[in-house]
Amino acid sequence: MPAPHALLLVDDDAAFRKVYGGLLREAGYEVVEAADRPSARAAFEARAFPLVLLDLMLPPDGSVSAGLEGLGALLSARPGTKVIVVSGAGDTRHTLEAVRLGAYDFLTKPVDPDVLLVVVQRALARVTLERQVEALRTSLARAGGDTSLVGQSAPFLAAVSLAERVAPSDLPVLITGENGTGKELLARTVHLKSRRHAGPFVPINCGALPESLLESALFGHVKGSFTGATKDHRGLFAEADGGTLFLDELGDMTPSLQVKVLRALETGDILSVGADLPVKVDVRLISATHRDLGRMQQEGAFREDLYWRVKGVEIRLPPLRERASDLPLLAKHFLNQCAHLCPDGRARLLSDAAAEALAAHAWPGNLRELRHEMQRATVLAGERREIQPEDLSFTGSERPRASAPGATTLARKVEALERREIEEALKRCGGNRTHTAEALGLSRQGLLKKLERFGLT
Ligand SMILES: Nc1ncnc2c1ncn2[C@@H]1O[C@H](COP(=O)(O)OP(=O)(O)OP(=O)(O)O)[C@@H](O)[C@H]1O
Ligand SMILES: [Mg+2]
Repeated sequence: MPAPHALLLVDDDAAFRKVYGGLLREAGYEVVEAADRPSARAAFEARAFPLVLLDLMLPPDGSVSAGLEGLGALLSARPGTKVIVVSGAGDTRHTLEAVRLGAYDFLTKPVDPDVLLVVVQRALARVTLERQVEALRTSLARAGGDTSLVGQSAPFLAAVSLAERVAPSDLPVLITGENGTGKELLARTVHLKSRRHAGPFVPINCGALPESLLESALFGHVKGSFTGATKDHRGLFAEADGGTLFLDELGDMTPSLQVKVLRALETGDILSVGADLPVKVDVRLISATHRDLGRMQQEGAFREDLYWRVKGVEIRLPPLRERASDLPLLAKHFLNQCAHLCPDGRARLLSDAAAEALAAHAWPGNLRELRHEMQRATVLAGERREIQPEDLSFTGSERPRASAPGATTLARKVEALERREIEEALKRCGGNRTHTAEALGLSRQGLLKKLERFGLT
């Protein structure tokens, strides 16, 4: 976009253009003039003006409906452009229609020069503000504050829909899923869609701190309660008051701390380390774990009472390999987030061969691994617009590469799929080969051959 002070003045009245164009130039604006619809169209197709002053009745036909149509087309092609409609007296109906279509403001002829300048100034200030918001949004997305959830596969949508239904209630939510499946992002989404959205979202990783530090991080401490406690510390339960506390990696919490957390959840009372009196807090709890809490609970490694307390509604996030159809969307999403790493600021694209390599990979680290891989590939691609398989860490040169790369990657992809299907069928059939062969529609002999080829015997 040109600097925010370039504007397009569209009017067939040469005297009007001369007077008001002159006035605006004097006020420091760059003014481009157009006298009819074709030249107006050519001008705003060539350049994205932040502001257009538009007469609706223009040659060649002077038809208002054609003018309104042109306005609609302009606004949908350049949504960032502000349009001020300038009309003759008695044109109220059309002016209102123009505003309904998205015109920013309107002026009626004869136009008071002072009013014109104020309206133009205000519209341009608005453009500047919108651009700043957009820039902030982009840098927020870069900093990892992007909370948009990408994905259309059935298992993912099922998880999101459950999250949306449970969000408005105050029920505790337990999010389970492998590492990097998006548990924290989903927890933030639940918070943002809850009635607590204006309150704090306070995350804490229960696996990252030793027990004593985690206790004082959660409950706070009073000055002097232990060596190094040089001042009072509120604790995260208190900080989350009126909002959501996100206990990440809850399965890593020690049994004695589990007792304290359970007590806090049941009574709403928080007792700081070294304090005499508890304080009341109002906190909604979301927890996450990559472990099987249900099994841990049965085996005695996690308190049963706390398990039922935090479970409320359990949402399972599928691993990336179970949402294969989302892979291209997610890859593109992460590539867009990395655009700022490119010398030209444009997001890199995936070559067909790279896309095939992504599809053939198993993604043990799920979305986190994919995000990292897209970042790395963006950097390695350098000036190249397209990412190639050699930019990916898992298609390194130690892998055999054939002379016809398209054919091998497709073959590899098919093979990986076949292998995965067989492994899963074997698991389902408890290792019974006859049943597995039946389930896959293979002869027993055919299955054995494949098992041998894939080293699954
Ligand atoms: N549906 C999604 N759409 C777009 N980006 C996503 C989605 N889910 C997760 N992400 C991104 O993937 C990355 C990993 O997500 P997140 O940290 O939420 O996963 P996690 O399950 O908490 O991982 P870990 O187990 O490693 O803590 C983040 O950068 C997150 O923004
Ligand atoms: Mg996490």
